[in-house]
Order: sequence, then C-alpha cells, then structure tokens
Amino acid sequence: MGVLAGKTALVTGGSRGIGRAVAVRLAAEGALVAVHYGGDDAAARETVARIEKEGGRAFAVRARFGEPGAIDLLFDGLTEGLAGRGLDILVNNAGIASINPISQVTPEEFERLLAVNVSTPFFVIQRALPLLNDGGRVVNMGSTATRIAVPMQIGYTVSKAAIEAMAPSLANELGGRGITVNTVAPGVVRTDMTAGHTSIPEVVAAFEAITALGRLGEPEDVADVVAFLASPQGRWVTGQTVDVSGGTYLGPIG
Ligand SMILES: NC(=O)c1ccc[n+]([C@@H]2O[C@H](COP(=O)([O-])OP(=O)(O)OC[C@H]3O[C@@H](n4cnc5c(N)ncnc54)[C@H](OP(=O)(O)O)[C@@H]3O)[C@@H](O)[C@H]2O)c1
Repeated sequence: MGVLAGKTALVTGGSRGIGRAVAVRLAAEGALVAVHYGGDDAAARETVARIEKEGGRAFAVRARFGEPGAIDLLFDGLTEGLAGRGLDILVNNAGIASINPISQVTPEEFERLLAVNVSTPFFVIQRALPLLNDGGRVVNMGSTATRIAVPMQIGYTVSKAAIEAMAPSLANELGGRGITVNTVAPGVVRTDMTAGHTSIPEVVAAFEAITALGRLGEPEDVADVVAFLASPQGRWVTGQTVDVSGGTYLGPIG
C-alpha cells in the first residue's frame, strides 16, 4: 500500500511533461488521480493507460484553460470522476510559456499568460475549497524564473511570481483545516515546453555549467518533490517555495 492509498488528486496539465510524471507518481502511491488536460486527447489517454497498467487508478478531464467555461467543465468532470468523494490533493501544474522581450510581448500574449498561469489556478483553488478534505494539500507549479532573471521570459516570470505569491496567504487561511499550500519551482526540465532549447547541445551545456548537480532536470525530479509535499511526510511544510533545480545558478561554480 502506498502512502496515498485512499486519497484523491487532481493534477492540472497532467497529460504531458511534469504533470504526467506527477500524476503517475501520485497514482503509484495509491491516489485516484484526475488527469486534466487542455486538448491533446491522445496524451491524456496514454497517461491514464500507463497509470492503469501500473496498477493505479485515474480518469481524464478535458478543459481548455483561458476559454470561457473551462473551470466549470473541469469541475463537472472532476466531480463525476470522484463520484461523491472529496479531493485530497490539488496540483496546479498546467501552464504556458512565452519567450519574448518586453518590447515584443503583446497585450493579448500577456493576458493569455495571466489567464492560464494565474487566474485559472486562482479560481481552480477557489472552486476546489468546498471539495478539499481537511488535511489536504495544494501544490502550485512556479519556476526558478522568479529567482533567475531572464529578460526573454519577462511575461512568464511575472505570471510565475503571481502564482508563487498565493502560497503564504493561502497557507495561513487554510492552515486551520490542516491544509498545506506550497509552490514547487523547477529549473529547466526536459519537456515539450523546453524542447526548443534543450535540443540544442550548446544551450544544454550552458545550463549544465550553471547547475550545481551538472545536468538538466527530468519530470520525475519534480514529481518526487510534489509527491513528498502531498504525502503525510510533508505535513509540516506550508507557505513555502521549494526550489527544484539541482542547484541552478547558486553562485560561481569552481
Ligand atoms: N519544463 C520546464 O523547464 C519548466 C520549468 C519551470 C516550470 N515549469 C512549469 O511546469 C508546468 C508544466 O510544464 P511542462 O514543461 O510539463 O509543460 P508541457 O510539457 O508543455 O505540458 C503542459 C501541460 O499543460 C496542459 N496545458 C497547457 N496549456 C493548457 C491550457 N490552456 N488549458 C489546459 N491545459 C493546458 C497540457 O495539456 P494539452 O497538451 O492537452 O494542452 C499539458 O498537459 C508549467 O506550469 C510550467 O510553467 C516548467
């Protein structure tokens, strides 16, 4: 029996990348996992099939964040899949990137970043509150972008700073119910989101050179930390940002 046996979890953006690794990991610990996704049916099906093949339980829920009615759609699918049970673990992982300097970020791009990366998780948490069981867990996906300045990511960075800012306030508000709220901040992780630059050996070498542990992250590196925060062992950590970057840009190396 895993440490999450009998628990339920929602992982937004759980069909690919970091979210998939989180969904697989939570399911391996025994949780029933709602694998949310935005449009890639095949990837969601594949994730659910993998979980079931490994002996876990999961169901997929489609909702395109940033479009009208998306949160209603998410909660319709979630409540149907939970069949009367509450929610123990909410992982707000779905997110989008933007690679543009401030001079090229359009109002539409900026609004979309805020809609998907900030407003959606904010209102997903709001909607989840009545469903969340006492002793539950909320984990929001931040980024080391808030610690390491990258001008080409300014819009994304602002959105990740906003989501990171939610945890301390929410931790205080929900602490009385034993619910913890934390942010996990990954460095560069090999996923579809980063494939554009992690496929270039010179770029990979540059990232490795500024990382204490000397390599890029894998989705499982992040999933293990989310699983810890979601588990009973993580009960005394709340309102925090946990940097999960293998020690990227800590200071001069060597
Ligand atoms: N990869 C990194 O290096 C890195 C570093 C720091 C932080 N992060 C953060 O970690 C999270 C996951 O990143 P990732 O690299 O795993 O991303 P990814 O590989 O691009 O996967 C994104 C996931 O989110 C879903 N999604 C994207 N846009 C959506 C929308 N508008 N509505 C609903 N679902 C949507 C996707 O579902 P569909 O495919 O169905 O749309 C997919 O499941 C993001 O919040 C990201 O900012 C990533």
